Amino acid sequence: MTSRPTIDGLAGPLTADEIDAVRKPYRAASLLPGRAYHDAAIHDFEREVWFRRDWMIVGREEDAPDRGTYFLAQIGDEPLVIARGRDGALRAFYNVCRHRGTAVVEEACGKAVRFQCPYHSWIYDLEGNLVRAKHTEDLEDFDREDFGLVSVRLETWQGFVFVCLSPETPPLLDWLGDLPPHLERFDFARLRVAHTETYEVGSNLKFIAENYSECYHCPGIHPQLNKLTPYDVGGDFAPTGPWQGGWMELVDDAETMAVDGGHRNGRPVIPGVTAVDERRIYYYLIWPLTFISIHPDYLLVHRLEPAGPDHTRIVCQWLFEPTTIAAPDFDPSDAIAFWDLTNRQDWHVCELQQRGTRSRSWTAGRYSNQEPSVHAFDLMAVDRYANDGVNSQRTVRLRYDVPPPLDGDSFEGGIAAARLPRATPAGSTRNVARTKAKSGTTAAR
Ligand code: FES
Repeated sequence: MTSRPTIDGLAGPLTADEIDAVRKPYRAASLLPGRAYHDAAIHDFEREVWFRRDWMIVGREEDAPDRGTYFLAQIGDEPLVIARGRDGALRAFYNVCRHRGTAVVEEACGKAVRFQCPYHSWIYDLEGNLVRAKHTEDLEDFDREDFGLVSVRLETWQGFVFVCLSPETPPLLDWLGDLPPHLERFDFARLRVAHTETYEVGSNLKFIAENYSECYHCPGIHPQLNKLTPYDVGGDFAPTGPWQGGWMELVDDAETMAVDGGHRNGRPVIPGVTAVDERRIYYYLIWPLTFISIHPDYLLVHRLEPAGPDHTRIVCQWLFEPTTIAAPDFDPSDAIAFWDLTNRQDWHVCELQQRGTRSRSWTAGRYSNQEPSVHAFDLMAVDRYANDGVNSQRTVRLRYDVPPPLDGDSFEGGIAAARLPRATPAGSTRNVARTKAKSGTTAAR
C-alpha cells in the first residue's frame, strides 16, 4: 500500500489501490469501496477537507432580502450566520462570540439591528464589529476592533449564496470553471422559492449524488418520470469545473415535469429559456452538495446537508418567476407532487443501498455503460481523497442512446459552442417524438 499526501495534516482516507481502481477508464473502473459510504473517519475527512476547502452553497440571496435580515448555516461543525448589513451587502461570519465562544444568534432566520450574545451581552453590529462589551474598558491590550465576529468568505452567483472557509481557494467564479458562461443565458437570481420540502434520508451523501447523476434506474424506479423524459433520450455536457450536467428530452406533449401528463398549466417559461431549452430538463450537480434541475417553467434545487455517514438532510426547493407566483391562479402543486414522489422514490433506493453496502459481502461494483456520469462524480471524489493534484479526465456521453467511445475518452475539455443549446426563439421547434433517431454520431445535438 502506497501512502498518500496529507491535506491540512489529515491523511487521505483511501488506499492507493482503491483510488486507482476508480481512476481507470470507466469500462474498467470499480466503484468507490463500501467503507467510503459508512466509515465515520471518511465522513470526518470529507467534513474537514472537502467542505472546508471548496465553495459551498448555503442558501439563496432571498433568504436575507433586506438590511438586517439574516439566516444561519452550518458547514461541517462550523456554525455560520449570513447577514445583510446596513449597506445592503451580504456577509458571512462564524456564529461564535469572541468572548467565551457562545453561539451568538439562536434563531434560524430573522431580522435584527444588531446581534447580542445571550451570555454576557457583548453586542456586534450587522457588519460583525464588536460595538459593546461591558466591563472591558480597563483591560490591557484589548481593542474592540480586534474582537469582531470572525468573517467568512461569501460570494453569490445566480442568486445562490456561497461561502468558503479556506482563504486559499480561488474566487468563486474561477472555482466554478466554465459553469457560469455555460448558464449565462439564465437569470436565476430573479426567481423566488414557492415551496420547500425537507427530507431526512438514511443514506450517505455520495449515494444520493450518484443517484442524481444517472437515469439508468429511471425505468424501474421512476415510471412517471421515464414516461415524460425517457432515460435514453438526452446527453451530457463536458465540464472543466467542479460540476457535471446533462439534459433529457421531453417527449410527446409533455411540457415540464408535473403530475397528470407534465403540463405547465399556463405557467410561462422562465427568462432565458430558448426553444431548445423548452423541450429539455437540465440536471446539474455543483460539487459537492447541490443539484439544480432546470425546467422550462421552474428551477428545482436540492441542497444536501450531511449529518453523518449514513444520514443526509435534503432541502428541496421549487423556484418560479415572481410574476408567475403572483398570478391569481398560480398553483405549483402539480410540479411539487411530481418531484415529491420522485424524491421519495430516490431516497428509498438510496436507503436500501446504504443498508446493502453495509454488508461485508459487498465489494466495490462496476459501472454499467449508462453510468459514466456516476463514474465522473466518483472521480471528483477520489481526486479529493487522493489530494495529489490530479484532475481526472471524465468520460462524457454526448448522447444517451449512443455508447461512449471504447476509449472512454469523449471528454474534450471545455464546452464547444456547438454543444450549447442554440438560442432559437422559444416555441419554434416541434415536440420530440418518442421514437428517437438512431445515429452513430456522438455529437448530434
Ligand atoms: Fe458572549 Fe460572553 S460568551 S458575551
